[in-house]
Amino acid sequence: MAERSKFSGQLGFVLAAAGSAVGLGNIWRFPYLAAKYGGGIFLLVYLILVVTFGFTVMIAEVAIGRKTGLSPVDAFRKLHKRFAFIGVLGSFSAFIILSYYNVIGGWVLKYLVSFMTGAHTATAQEGFFDAYIGGAFEPIIWQTIFVVATLAVILGGVKKGIERVSKVLMPVLVLLSIAIAIYSCTLPGAMEGVKYYLLPNFQDFSATTVLAAMGQMFYSMSLAMGIMITYGSYLRKEDDLEKAVGQIEIFDTGVAFLAGLMIIPAVFAAGGRETAVNAGPSLMFVTLPGVFEKMGGGGIMSAIVGSAFFLLVLLAALTSAISLMEAVVATICDRFAIKRRTAAIGIAVAVFLLGIPSSLGFGPLSFIKVLGLSILDLFDFITNAVLMPITALLTCLFVGWVIKPKTIVEEVKLSSRFRREKLFCIVVKYIAPIFIVLILISSVLDMLGIAKI
Ligand code: PFF
Repeated sequence: MAERSKFSGQLGFVLAAAGSAVGLGNIWRFPYLAAKYGGGIFLLVYLILVVTFGFTVMIAEVAIGRKTGLSPVDAFRKLHKRFAFIGVLGSFSAFIILSYYNVIGGWVLKYLVSFMTGAHTATAQEGFFDAYIGGAFEPIIWQTIFVVATLAVILGGVKKGIERVSKVLMPVLVLLSIAIAIYSCTLPGAMEGVKYYLLPNFQDFSATTVLAAMGQMFYSMSLAMGIMITYGSYLRKEDDLEKAVGQIEIFDTGVAFLAGLMIIPAVFAAGGRETAVNAGPSLMFVTLPGVFEKMGGGGIMSAIVGSAFFLLVLLAALTSAISLMEAVVATICDRFAIKRRTAAIGIAVAVFLLGIPSSLGFGPLSFIKVLGLSILDLFDFITNAVLMPITALLTCLFVGWVIKPKTIVEEVKLSSRFRREKLFCIVVKYIAPIFIVLILISSVLDMLGIAKI
């Protein structure tokens, strides 16, 4: 790629990276996983992973990007000829994720429109969500609109505009989440949920908890997909890399934490622990509309808060989807001599087609279950529990043993001190690789019912 435009400064980078990181992963995925995997214990494991593994992988990726100034495949290739495949693997994960991300983006769109057009009372009814996603056509129509919107931004280059809008909207999302979280926590019966979410219960701990938290951490921070390499390549040599990574971590984790606080206590208030633990991907769509409906004001409050909330979720999802598509497009353009426009349209069509089974998996294809998972959940599982840990493992081995941690350390130190240097070197070389392998093995055994840790 020729001349790279640089971000206007560190803030530009942090916002763009946060725009990619904060998305459905934080608001839709994190709360249902936390509810499913033991609440407090999941939160604790998650936080530990963010400041150790998450930090290590993110700083490695951003530094690789800034050092080489290239997109993922070329960046790995430049550092070592034989390792370009790690970049390819990352783009492959991004491609699969994007296919089902669009489906959920479509659900968000549907909810937004329902709230804006006054149809929200129906949306809040029990059974609405399952009936809706069980339909054959409507979800696919909204999915199409979401894909086209993502493609339009990629083609139209309105990315700058989106970044500018995100600058205002991301803080609004945080404020609105705080307000809704406070409201949820004060509902009668919500305290049980707050306790469940915040207090770790060590009996709920298992290898699967760690794997789920680890997959979620990579997903939420947009790691192991080459995205941070791409963004790092736009960073200037004088920017403080460690500080920027720290800010993204705080922002991303903060939004996920708030989403949990917004959703989990509310489900406890409405249906107790069983409902929370078993809800799965439907949690956000089923619980929150019910909470909004209870806000009173003859439905006006529900319409306003619901529309604002789903609009912000939609924008967060769009900025993430854009970064996912960008990662795939950049890789395809680098590998094959295809025009950007052609590549983008081709990929949009491909992810759309691949998304259709995920969507139908809740309706006409609901008889298809692999390992007890629906098609969408299966794609989600393959990327988060298998592909991303493997890509992260390879990245750590590559940095720790092939190019050596000092390559990254030197890059970080170009512009600032590296306070967590020791932690970085030890984690990248030893702890992360050993740990990821152990977790992968034990959770596969766990899934197959052979052993439980
Ligand atoms: N981090 C995004 C989220 O939490 O929704 C999803 C995502 C975007 C994952 C970009 C990976 C990625 F490369």
